[in-house]
Amino acid sequence: MQRLTSLVAPTLRSRAQLSLRRSTRVVLRAGISTHTVPPLKDPSLLQPYPFIDNEFIIPTTPYQTFSVRDPVSGLKIADVPDQTVDDAKIAIKAAAAAFKSFRATAARERSNWLRRWNELVLENKGDLATLITWENGKPLADASGEVSYAASFLEWFAEEAPRIYGDTIPASVKGNRVLTQRQPVGVCGLITPWNFPAAMITRKVGPALAAGCTVVIKAPAETPLTSLALAELARRAGIPKGVINVVTTMENTPDVGKELCTNPVVKKISFTGSTAVGKLLMKQASGTLKKLSFELGGNAPFIVFDDADLDTAVAGAVISKFRSSGQTCVCANRIFVQEGIYDKFAEKLAMKVKEFRVGSGYQEGTTHGPLIHERAVEKVHGHVVNAREAGAEVVLGGKKMEHLGMNFYEPTVLTGMSKEMLLYKEETFGPVAALFPFKTEKEVVEMANDTEVGLAAYFFSKDYSRIWRVAEALEVGMVGINTGLISDPAAPFGGVKQSGFGREGSKYGVDEYTVVKMMTFGGIGDLQE
Ligand code: SIN
Repeated sequence: MQRLTSLVAPTLRSRAQLSLRRSTRVVLRAGISTHTVPPLKDPSLLQPYPFIDNEFIIPTTPYQTFSVRDPVSGLKIADVPDQTVDDAKIAIKAAAAAFKSFRATAARERSNWLRRWNELVLENKGDLATLITWENGKPLADASGEVSYAASFLEWFAEEAPRIYGDTIPASVKGNRVLTQRQPVGVCGLITPWNFPAAMITRKVGPALAAGCTVVIKAPAETPLTSLALAELARRAGIPKGVINVVTTMENTPDVGKELCTNPVVKKISFTGSTAVGKLLMKQASGTLKKLSFELGGNAPFIVFDDADLDTAVAGAVISKFRSSGQTCVCANRIFVQEGIYDKFAEKLAMKVKEFRVGSGYQEGTTHGPLIHERAVEKVHGHVVNAREAGAEVVLGGKKMEHLGMNFYEPTVLTGMSKEMLLYKEETFGPVAALFPFKTEKEVVEMANDTEVGLAAYFFSKDYSRIWRVAEALEVGMVGINTGLISDPAAPFGGVKQSGFGREGSKYGVDEYTVVKMMTFGGIGDLQE
């Protein structure tokens, strides 16, 4: 283990004709005081500069930076350029130039690049996990799991690239022949979240590249370093210059987002984030009618019927509710438990949650890390206080863990929840298991659907007919039946209602990055004498 010291902001450079200057390497000199960050095996993976045209760019003119902070200590990890609309335009231009030749590459070539990138991600799993834990806070074992998950999208889409088929269609007019080809949509703007700093990048870039698109990624302000390390590995995989570009920004996020959504060169936006921001981006993108895929907020119901296997349901709740300390879009939000097993379920769940160990993700034995920032803690605590005041019982937790740091919150179990409480209506995005009692199948399905969003739902039952009835009645894009973990590169990920549209991963994932070109061949006629 090596103790490190904070990265200093790069010295401002004098004004030159170019607003960006190219740099190749940055030495790892970063650190924090309250826990020890393992050294990277390959320090050149820590790149705190935007990535454009296959180069990490140090601005040459005076420029603003923002600090990437360790959510455990609140200390600075690195200062990263807060890029502007002009910088975003440069990235878009690079992606547009690269698209001209990349779209014409053979599917097998693109497949090989993705496969090589996948291998490099796995070879550098330890370093990538270290970076994820540092800037996101999730425990090292979870971070390492995320790297495998991230790589799996590259592997999946390496396999899909050579299988982007068109159709031959019997024409209505004699003498005509109709066929289709699926062509790359063009330059894609990808706006990704901090909760999966690696996997949400590869889940978008994988299908984009498989289809022959080029991309500009707006890296999350909280976790840009993982995106930049992935870009470095893409460069090493031989992915041609300009195909992947990563813009870093915090204060200028709204303007950079708007540029991606309004620039006519960009043909598609893929966004993972809140429903409110999704609506804004959709409005902005309407001016140029871009192709869109949005994965937005959820309010996942998690239903346990009396006939469920109790231990399976408890294990499902632990993973679905507390994965990444409750900070995934598909985390259970409202846990509905049928009256006959309510008390037993609550007791068993509380016993499991009591075993959690909260702390630094680098510490051996830590099961759960901090939340991403203090705002998140305030929101979670607000939901708990509101529930308590309205009559819920705090079985476990319910407090901030200020002795550990400003971003920690106790894993919490609440019983006696009711529909009037904030947590019923809003996604908590934190480690709070809130148990609502219910009597009948009809009542619980109504409550489950009583929300404007519809991303994921889970339920537990051994009754074959009930499983069909309930799975079909839930208004969501994804249902977990007798499992709390549905994430899989082979399975289509996405929502309905105000959770968005479009699917990521799976055989459908590439569709979001292609357009169907139809060709009609006329005057073919009959065999000539
Ligand atoms: C998300 O939170 O958006 C992604 C969760 C997952 O892929 O499991």
